[in-house]
Amino acid sequence: MPTVRKEDGAARPFLKWAGGKSQLLPAFSGCFPAELGRGGVRRYVEPFVGSGAVWLAVAQQYPGVELVIGDLNPALMATYRALQEDVEAVVAPLEAWQAAYWAADEAGRKALFYEVREAFNAGLARGDESAAQAARFVFLNRTGFNGLFRVNAAGRFNVPPGRYRRPRIADAPNLRRVAAVLRRTRIVAGDYRQMDRWIGPGTFVYCDPPYRPLSRTASFTAYIPEGFDDDAQRRLAAACRAWADAGAWVMVSNADPRNTDPDDRFFETIYPGFWFARVSARRSINARPDRRGPVRELVITSYPPPGVEAVRVFTPR
Ligand SMILES: C[S@@+](CC[C@H](N)C(=O)[O-])C[C@H]1O[C@@H](n2cnc3c(N)ncnc32)[C@H](O)[C@@H]1O
Repeated sequence: MPTVRKEDGAARPFLKWAGGKSQLLPAFSGCFPAELGRGGVRRYVEPFVGSGAVWLAVAQQYPGVELVIGDLNPALMATYRALQEDVEAVVAPLEAWQAAYWAADEAGRKALFYEVREAFNAGLARGDESAAQAARFVFLNRTGFNGLFRVNAAGRFNVPPGRYRRPRIADAPNLRRVAAVLRRTRIVAGDYRQMDRWIGPGTFVYCDPPYRPLSRTASFTAYIPEGFDDDAQRRLAAACRAWADAGAWVMVSNADPRNTDPDDRFFETIYPGFWFARVSARRSINARPDRRGPVRELVITSYPPPGVEAVRVFTPR
């Protein structure tokens, strides 16, 4: 499993995304099923793909594996589709905006941001899935505050402009590499339950659902209008059990609740019979710098993970 670095010519995530997994790739590689390296995995399915760090890494390390990705965020899925169909049509406006943004003063940058945001919201309202709309999505992600994606009750994207000196808005070589991976990837937009038909024997499923908040005040789930509360985590656990029973290798990650409460057994209770490993991560999206330090991430697998220490947990329901 490679560490995907900026210099090495590998496709890497082009979006900033809450819960992005780039920094966890080295630790995660020890959690992938051993069969992945032995040709036993035919298909990789990632139902909560976000910016896709794990999907891109698996795709490039195991080029023979069939790929299926999904996410509930329709604007994100439309962006992947647009890149799959015509990457140059997405790159061209991004290059123009990057030049304009870099040349502008602060007022000019704000004006450009609001102009693109307005056009993006008009596009959201009419269900625009064009390359131009995809370019707006990428521009807003690269120049908006903390790379957040947030819509208000009326469905309008309302993130304010961020402050960046020379943001990389148009990384054309990387977008082309991502597009090449997308051309061999099936995109299934919507809720994770739509993935059932792609999951069975020979499938490796990786789920990275929105985090269960580490404390009552932390609210990562607030960025997703639908939220992902404890009941939603339970429903996902039941789906994972069903996928494992159908013959798939299932891996799920989440923030480790024991970062803040050493006695928390929530996940142990909802994933009986699964293996539990704890690996280290560094958070990058958090408004408070003091919360960006290393925290442990919980990795739950339906099989014994080959490269990390794990315990199998049987907790009576
Ligand atoms: C923690 S993020 C995934 C981050 C990703 N691993 C990365 O490296 O960027 C969770 C993702 O789940 C998506 N999501 C939320 N609820 C969902 C659902 N019911 N079905 C599918 N995707 C969902 C969100 O839109 C978000 O992109």
